Amino acid sequence: VKMYIVACALALVVLISPAADALDNGLALTPTMGWLHWERFLCNTDCDSDPDNCISERLYMQMADVMAKEGWREAGYEYVCIDDCWPSHQRDARGRLQADPKRFPGGIKKLADYVHSKGLKLGIYADVGKSTCAGYPGSLGYYETDAQTFADWDVDLLKFDGCNMDWTLVGEGYVNMSKALNKTGRSILYSCEWPLYEWHFKKPNYTAIREACNHWRNFDDVFDSWSSVKSILDWTAFHQDMIVPAAGPGGWNDPDMLVIGNFGLSHAQQESQMALWAIMAAPLLVSNDLRDICPRSKELLQNRRIIDISQDALGRQGYRTAKVDTFEVWERPLSKNRLAIAVINMLELGGSRRFFIQAIPGWKICEPQCNVTQILPQYQEMGVQTPRSKIHLSVNPSGTALLTITPIRDFTGSHKVQWEDTSVRRKHTIL
Ligand SMILES: *[C@@H]1O[C@H](CO)[C@@H](O)[C@H](O)[C@H]1NC(C)=O
Ligand SMILES: *[C@@H]1O[C@H](CO)[C@@H](O)[C@H](O)[C@H]1NC(C)=O
Ligand SMILES: *[C@@H]1O[C@H](CO)[C@@H](O)[C@H](O)[C@H]1NC(C)=O
Ligand SMILES: *[C@@H]1O[C@H](CO)[C@@H](O)[C@H](O)[C@H]1NC(C)=O
Repeated sequence: VKMYIVACALALVVLISPAADALDNGLALTPTMGWLHWERFLCNTDCDSDPDNCISERLYMQMADVMAKEGWREAGYEYVCIDDCWPSHQRDARGRLQADPKRFPGGIKKLADYVHSKGLKLGIYADVGKSTCAGYPGSLGYYETDAQTFADWDVDLLKFDGCNMDWTLVGEGYVNMSKALNKTGRSILYSCEWPLYEWHFKKPNYTAIREACNHWRNFDDVFDSWSSVKSILDWTAFHQDMIVPAAGPGGWNDPDMLVIGNFGLSHAQQESQMALWAIMAAPLLVSNDLRDICPRSKELLQNRRIIDISQDALGRQGYRTAKVDTFEVWERPLSKNRLAIAVINMLELGGSRRFFIQAIPGWKICEPQCNVTQILPQYQEMGVQTPRSKIHLSVNPSGTALLTITPIRDFTGSHKVQWEDTSVRRKHTIL
């Protein structure tokens, strides 16, 4: 079998130390976890004919109930997040946003109290421009008022969209809102879409973005399909030299919601999304109907070993290190010199395909020995290995094998070079 490994320029990834100058609000020290309504429930405001699925206080209360009752909170999913279409079309007499009175009769403060009573946190949505993407009042000209309103309501997270805004003012608007949130004195996690709305016009300044935001969307909205998930992975790999160094405790690249548990992804594809979102140190914001989710999807989303990779204390985002035959290899450095590896089979044809483990660039941390654990597609302790081990992984079409590798060092001093250092000069062509 002829194999190609495409060399990746990882110098930036490795040499620029991230985590400097994050937004200093004490939040998002690991990627945010929670539930967000958008991909599954969109702008459904028709509570008369679709009361169970419309954007209303009932929806968030029911999600909070399920999150508290069915293991989600214990697994780490903490934020119950409202997206667009919650407000009334008019501000109140004092210029404040107000919730749609019919769909949120108790108001947002009561909803926040309810969510807090379940040991969870509440997220809300607004927009940096004149109006939100769905045409509700935007925050332009009202940043301080809106920040204070959210703080008064005891909201814990703000997703701030970027529709209907002059692109040259997008950065300024996001920074102003960041300052306004800080000024309220309440710790409110700040989820931005700043780079997404700048990319069409110029290269975003990720240093400035990291100083203002806890996470930031770079690319299009996720859809409930494998082609959408794949396009996000492609975009991320293509821009990794620029965006990966920006990620670290306090600030993360946001590839958008997990759509696991919906209609569009096969189980193998759901595993791929979960594995790769963990490798990318992405916020894990699930958009599905937690009240009605198949057990396998639930088990995947609550998989403690994958969540451990996502929430790893080192806080480094992973990146694509190779394309080999029909496979992509992604690697994420973890704390204690460990490494997480995802091998995706991109061939949407046939059955499972074998992948030779020595073709993983990071496999060199197995010198002299390492301990290998496979997490997906099923848990399997592969035991102690060496760089010469003859192991094949088996990966289904559009599925992923996810591994963690723990180096076992001999402490004679002959193996001081760490994986991170050697990866800079990596250039492979294996035939
Ligand atoms: C506001 O910013 C200051 C300085 O960056 C920081 O020390 C403080 O914790 C922030 N407060 C909030 C509520 O985010
Ligand atoms: C941001 O704040 C500055 C200083 O108050 C102000 O001059 C500027 O117009 C604001 N920009 C936006 C987009 O609100
Ligand atoms: C990017 O933002 C940082 C921090 O705000 C600033 O110091 C730097 O000059 C900016 N870089 C460019 C190229 O504008
Ligand atoms: C390898 O990892 C597994 C799973 O964490 C663990 O149970 C086992 O003891 C480890 N083996 C060695 C030799 O470290």
